[in-house]
Amino acid sequence: MKSPRMSGHAGARRAVQAIAAAGVLTLAAAGLPAVAAGSTLDTAAAESNRYFGTAIAVSRLSSDSTYSTIAAREFNMVTAENEMKMDATEPNQGQFNYSSGDRLVSWARQNGMQVRGHALAWHSQQPGWMQNMSGTALRNAMLNHVTQVATHFKGQIYAWDVVNEAFADGSSGARRDSNLQRTGNDWIEAAFRAARAADPNAKLCYNDYNTDNWNHAKTQAVYNMVKDFKARGVPIDCVGFQAHFNSGNPVPSNYHTTLQNFADLGVDVQITELDIEGSGSSQADQYKGVIQACMAVSRCTGVTVWGVRDSDSWRASGTPLLFDSYGNKKAAYTSVLGQLNSGQGVRATPGGISTDPTDPTDPTDPTDPTDPGQGTTSCSATYSEGQKWNDRFNGTVTIRNTGTAAISSWTSNVIVQYPQRIIATWNGSPTWPDQYRMVMRPQGNGYLAPGASTSFGFTVQHGGNWTWPSVNCTVG
Ligand code: G3I
Repeated sequence: MKSPRMSGHAGARRAVQAIAAAGVLTLAAAGLPAVAAGSTLDTAAAESNRYFGTAIAVSRLSSDSTYSTIAAREFNMVTAENEMKMDATEPNQGQFNYSSGDRLVSWARQNGMQVRGHALAWHSQQPGWMQNMSGTALRNAMLNHVTQVATHFKGQIYAWDVVNEAFADGSSGARRDSNLQRTGNDWIEAAFRAARAADPNAKLCYNDYNTDNWNHAKTQAVYNMVKDFKARGVPIDCVGFQAHFNSGNPVPSNYHTTLQNFADLGVDVQITELDIEGSGSSQADQYKGVIQACMAVSRCTGVTVWGVRDSDSWRASGTPLLFDSYGNKKAAYTSVLGQLNSGQGVRATPGGISTDPTDPTDPTDPTDPTDPGQGTTSCSATYSEGQKWNDRFNGTVTIRNTGTAAISSWTSNVIVQYPQRIIATWNGSPTWPDQYRMVMRPQGNGYLAPGASTSFGFTVQHGGNWTWPSVNCTVG
C-alpha cells in the first residue's frame, strides 16, 4: 500500500535521519542532497510538499486494471470526474446517492491518497428537478445540497470545489447568468458558509476555467471576489484553476503572476483540471511551464490532471494527458516529472513557454512592450528551494521586473525564523539589520528590463526549522 503523502521537509529529515542512523555517511560532508528524486509524479511532487492528482472515473477502477494500476502508482490526490456532482449525489430532491463517491473515497484511502471534492454548487450538471427551480426554493435546495453532501463526506475531503464556474467568459467580468445566480449575488458566499459549517476541516475552494491569464477580465473578476470575501470574512481557503489548454488557449506567459497574486490574497491556489491538447515537445514544454509556475508559488499546493490516459479524457481526440491510450508515459510525463524533481519554481517569461504568443487583443499586457500605458515600475521576489542537508539548506530568490519600465536597482528583504541563520550568500550584496533579516541588493549593475529577471542565493543553517524564508522586492 502506498504511504500517505509526506511533506518534503519531513521526507528530507527522515531520509537524513535514516541514513545517518545507519552510519553510512555524513550527508553534509559528502555534499549530497538529502532528498532523492521521485520516480513517480506523486513522490516527485512531495519533494516540494505538493500533491499530484488525477480525475478518476470510478467505473474504470474495477473494469480496467491498466487504468487503476497507473492511477494508484502515480498519484496521491484524486478528484471524482463526475461522481460527486449535484446530479450524481442528489438525483431526486432530498434523496441522496453517495455510492460512487464513497467507492472513490474508499479506493483512495486503500491507496494512501487524499480526495478533492468536486463540486458542491454549479450551474451545470444539475439534476433535472433543480434545473427548473428558481428563487428561494432553489436557494434553499442548493444550500441543503451543500450541507448534506459536505456533511456526508465530512473529514474525508482535502478540499471542496464549493462553487464551480460562476463567472462569465469574455470581457464583461460579470457573473455567469444561471438559475443559481438569479437567486441573488450572495449565492456564492452562502454556499461557502454552508460548506464551512458542514465540514470545518476541508479547504473550501472557488474553481473556474479561463482564469489563467492575469490580464483577462474573468481572472480579475474572480480575484476581486476572493479579495472581497477575504475582507469580509467569507470562509474561502483556496482557488482552483482548471487549466484546460489548447492551441487557441495556450498557457499564458503571466501564469505565475496570476497564481502569485491570488496567493497573496491569503488563499492556497491549486491547478485542478490540467490538460493541454497537443503532442511531443510542444505539449511537454507547456506542461513544464504550468508546473514551473505552480512551483514558483509557495501556496500553490498541488496539481491535478483531468484524467489518466489520453483515451480517458473528456476531449480524447486532443490527446491532452500524460499517458497515451496504451498507458505509456508521454514526453509530457517525462517533462512534468523532471520539473517536479528539479525543485525549482520558475516564473514563466515570454518565450519561457514556447507556444505562448502575446495576446494581441490585450492593450494592457505588461509583457508586451508594444502596448501603451507603459511606465510602471514594480518587481517581484520568488523563493525556490535548493539543496537540503541535515544542518542547512540552500535557497534562491528570483527578482523580476514586473513593471513596464526598466528599473536600475532593486532591494530584497529575506527574513528567516528562529533558530535559522543565513551563513552564506552569492550573487548579491547583503546587509544585516538584525540576525533574522538580510537586505539584499544587486551586486554591481541592478538594471532589469521589463520582464527580465536575476537571482541571488544563500545558505540557511536551519537548526531543525525547515520553514521557507519570506522574501519580497521593492524597486530602488
Ligand atoms: O455515463 C453516461 C452514459 O451512460 C451515457 O450513455 C452517455 C450519453 O451521453 O453519457 C454518460 O455521461 C457522460 C459523463 O460525462 C460520463 O462520461 C455525460 O453525458 C457527459 O456530459 C459527462 O461529461 C463530463 C462533463 O464534465 C460534464 O459537464 C465529463 O466527463 C467531465 O470530464 C467534465 O468535467 C468538467 C468539470 O467537471 C468542470 N470543468 C470542466 C470539465 C470538462 O468539461
